[in-house]
Amino acid sequence: MAKNKSVYVCQNCGAESPKWIGHCPSCHEWNSYREEIVTAASPSIPGRDAVRRKPELLSGIEANENDRITSGIGEVDRILGGGMVKGSLILMGGEPGIGKSTLALQIALATPGRTVLYVSGEESEGQVKLRAKRLEGKNEGCFIYNETEPESVLTQAGAIRPELLIIDSIQTLSSSMLESSAGSVTQVRECAAMMLRYAKESGVPVILIGHITKDGTLAGPKVLEHIVDVVLQFEGDGNYVFRILRPVKNRFGSTAEIGIFEMGPAGLREVTDPSELFIRRDRDPASGVTIAATVDGVRPFMIETQSLVSSAVYGTPQRSSTGFDTRRLNMLLAVLEKRAGFRLGVKDVFLNIAGGLKVSDPAIDLAVAAAVLSSNLDAPVDHHTAFAAEVGLSGEVRPVARIEQRIMEAARMGFNEIVISGFHRDVREVPGLKISKVYKIEGLVRLLFS
Ligand code: TYD
Ligand code: MG
Repeated sequence: MAKNKSVYVCQNCGAESPKWIGHCPSCHEWNSYREEIVTAASPSIPGRDAVRRKPELLSGIEANENDRITSGIGEVDRILGGGMVKGSLILMGGEPGIGKSTLALQIALATPGRTVLYVSGEESEGQVKLRAKRLEGKNEGCFIYNETEPESVLTQAGAIRPELLIIDSIQTLSSSMLESSAGSVTQVRECAAMMLRYAKESGVPVILIGHITKDGTLAGPKVLEHIVDVVLQFEGDGNYVFRILRPVKNRFGSTAEIGIFEMGPAGLREVTDPSELFIRRDRDPASGVTIAATVDGVRPFMIETQSLVSSAVYGTPQRSSTGFDTRRLNMLLAVLEKRAGFRLGVKDVFLNIAGGLKVSDPAIDLAVAAAVLSSNLDAPVDHHTAFAAEVGLSGEVRPVARIEQRIMEAARMGFNEIVISGFHRDVREVPGLKISKVYKIEGLVRLLFS
């Protein structure tokens, strides 16, 4: 009989230690070690002792880039680089309630007649059926299986021979060959490894759904990210309808693409024109509102930044921002104070990016600065003017990447003017769009408010 021993495993990165430690030397996480029992002999998981393979000459290997199958959803195919590569393992992570199960089920139902095995460890068959009724797709070949034993899943997959296997979620799978509890790093790693072997041997793409911990990383994250071929992160604010599907790792394509979805009564709908959604120009101009031409990955869209500046009610002024880094906001306020002479140190400043999006593109700096100034002076900025530039510490307005794309998007959306850095050389003029160049933050003040 195999001898059991216990080890302490970091639930964040999978590092092991013979005794409990409070601080992980590998990933520097605190209090992440849990005791897990491992059987001394490695468990005889099916497929582990598969036929020993021989090395092959690279030139003799046949592989086709285009050996992909469609997910049935355009945005998903696009961010994967043209569909799911056969035999690939795709991890889709996101916070609870963001729509992972919904998207996975939509993929399962998107192609009529395709045999899909949807394994749900969280919801009963009935619950999945109820959800499927609300969604648009219809697929007679979709099997639902409520199971948490990976061995049973693989047995059924062997019998059904699906063209796509979906596991919702990897954290609910737990092999009885391992003594650790479901969701522990050891279970997650071993179960994912079993799915990997299945995918590689059968050529069937496998989608794993993964939960995210409160700090925004995938549970048992590092271990999984190394194993899988593709990591897709589902982002968004639960209070809003927009969702962004972002590849953070893709062995078969670029990670610059993003997919944008809108959650509605019939599930997730692809958003092909995000600019239409994130800006509203059908109302009168209000002070404190400006529009930035941002780029996420390679995708340009227009987004509204809103600011409110008011006299501080308490001794210490408040600074608060949603969707934009608060430290960056503080830096911009300091620049406006020092370089443009605005006394913002005694003011409360609130900043909001419309639509519940989080934007890390530095090119929205100029729009944020303009919104703050506009609110402070209570002078509206024409909402047919867009902004795209970074602001440096000395108050210089700096050039940003992909300026042509931003200008084209502003022109397409019917803007009259775009304000960019004066340091851009040779920007092509677009008919109907005035390109205004500023070099310094003082220049912005002069351009907008004099
Ligand atoms: P779900 O896919 O269960 O999230 P996850 O698997 O990531 O935890 O999504 C649940 C949310 O989506 C829930 O709050 C309700 C909402 N929803 C809709 O708005 N419309 C729909 O058609 C469906 C199926 C869900
Ligand atoms: Mg779910």
